[in-house]
Amino acid sequence: MSSNQTPLVDIRGLKEYFPIQTGAFKTTPLKAVDDVSFTINRGETLGLVGESGCGKTTVGRTILHLYKPTAGEIRYDGKLIQTKADINELRKKATMVFQDPYSSLNPRMTVSDIIGEPLDIHKLYKSKEERMERILQLMDYVGLNSEHASRYAHEFSGGQRQRIGIARALAVNPEFIVCDEPVSALDVSIQAQVINMFDELQDKLGLTYLFIAHDLLVVRHISDRIAVMYLGKMVELADAAEIYDHPMHPYSQSLLSSVPVPDPITARANKRIVLSGDIPSPLNAPSGCPFRTRCRFAKDICAQSMPEFKEVRPGHFAACHCIETGDVPPYHGGNE
Ligand SMILES: Nc1ncnc2c1ncn2[C@@H]1O[C@H](COP(=O)(O)OP(=O)(O)O)[C@@H](O)[C@H]1O
Ligand code: SF4
Ligand SMILES: [Mg+2]
Repeated sequence: MSSNQTPLVDIRGLKEYFPIQTGAFKTTPLKAVDDVSFTINRGETLGLVGESGCGKTTVGRTILHLYKPTAGEIRYDGKLIQTKADINELRKKATMVFQDPYSSLNPRMTVSDIIGEPLDIHKLYKSKEERMERILQLMDYVGLNSEHASRYAHEFSGGQRQRIGIARALAVNPEFIVCDEPVSALDVSIQAQVINMFDELQDKLGLTYLFIAHDLLVVRHISDRIAVMYLGKMVELADAAEIYDHPMHPYSQSLLSSVPVPDPITARANKRIVLSGDIPSPLNAPSGCPFRTRCRFAKDICAQSMPEFKEVRPGHFAACHCIETGDVPPYHGGNE
């Protein structure tokens, strides 16, 4: 994409703090997302990865203003989202597909009710016939047979339910979809099918995705660029192939090292980096670099100041004090 093009989604300094009751009269802010900035270009898929609890869902929900941002700016197609009218306008163009197809769909609604509901809410048809036609078109997009229209959600498998959820999301004709771990709850055997469907829908409908997953393998083929989060912060962002070939942040290196590599030679070269300790609580995050309590390369400076998120190679951003000093050795990823 040329640099003079306005990104579809432009996030700057986004913070989402949840007040948590930590005493009878005391609340402490839980910094679920802490000063995150990134852009997503039109037609692009940005993969967002990191362990459970690092703030991925909160980023997605806050972009859509399902949570009011604590701080930061969200621009959609160049326009700052501020007023209620802006949010309503945004909701017509941007939507979300949820992680769990078992709890996000009402099991007692029929497929046509579930897909038709957003059409009703946004008054997107002129006649009953047009409504049904649109429902059948949406079912066709996601590979569901028209005979399924009058069946209930509880009659379907996880993969089929996720297809129903996607058809529902597509009902408003969105441009941008936050896909929040849409395959994590599915059997591994059907994950690839559903990911391929997202890919095909993107081409057919010109969609832009923020595609969230907890592991790098899932987002690898669908993503143009990949962002890695740790404890509410973005630690690395680069083209998908670049992250695989040259992960620079010690946390991304460890995430990548746990991805199985089919080639035994690369597998030998890439010893698995096992992280010591658990992720700290976001209520009690370490000073300085959030990763320092688990980082093999941590130095004094890592406890003293938060490393800046900066461009370490063209188009490749990382937040680590020790990359440019050469203290973090290069890691050769699965593509080499
Ligand atoms: N509505 C909420 N109220 C309070 N804390 C929340 C809420 N939503 C998420 N959190 C906390 O914020 C952090 C990030 O959560 P989340 O965005 O769900 O992470 P992820 O999607 O990466 O697993 C976690 O510590 C989680 O417990
Ligand atoms: S800043 Fe320090 S602790 Fe953080 S990732 Fe880099 S080397 Fe590790
Ligand atoms: Mg989540």
